[in-house]
Amino acid sequence: MLVEVAKTIELGPGGVKAVNVNEKEILLCNCDGNVYAVDRRCGHMNAPLDFGTLEGRYLTCPMHSVQFDVTTGEALNLPLYHYSGEETEDGRETKIIDNYPEHMGALFSHIKVCNIQTYPVRVEGDSIKIDI
Ligand code: FES
Repeated sequence: MLVEVAKTIELGPGGVKAVNVNEKEILLCNCDGNVYAVDRRCGHMNAPLDFGTLEGRYLTCPMHSVQFDVTTGEALNLPLYHYSGEETEDGRETKIIDNYPEHMGALFSHIKVCNIQTYPVRVEGDSIKIDI
């Protein structure tokens, strides 16, 4: 069933817009004038992908940088785990966080990254509709 979810003026080139349709969180992505619709939530740990970045057809999650191809929903890489620990005066990390990267890396390695779902989009005049 086609449902209008936005107007074209709300989604400029390179832009994203989160919408809710039938209790689903969807993200519209304008890739150089072509509009795609994907799940708003990351296939790794559910981060909201509208807080990430869209470059061309590649949507990067703000949390651990998994990239998704919005034309297919495919996850293109494994998560990256950023570490911004503090250092002591002698350059060593504090004891509490000494093993943090290894601990989190080991923990997160058991979390599967899933592809995200895509939805057919139709632009009719100034109306963006998705088939859901
Ligand atoms: S939640 Fe998106 S990459 Fe981890």
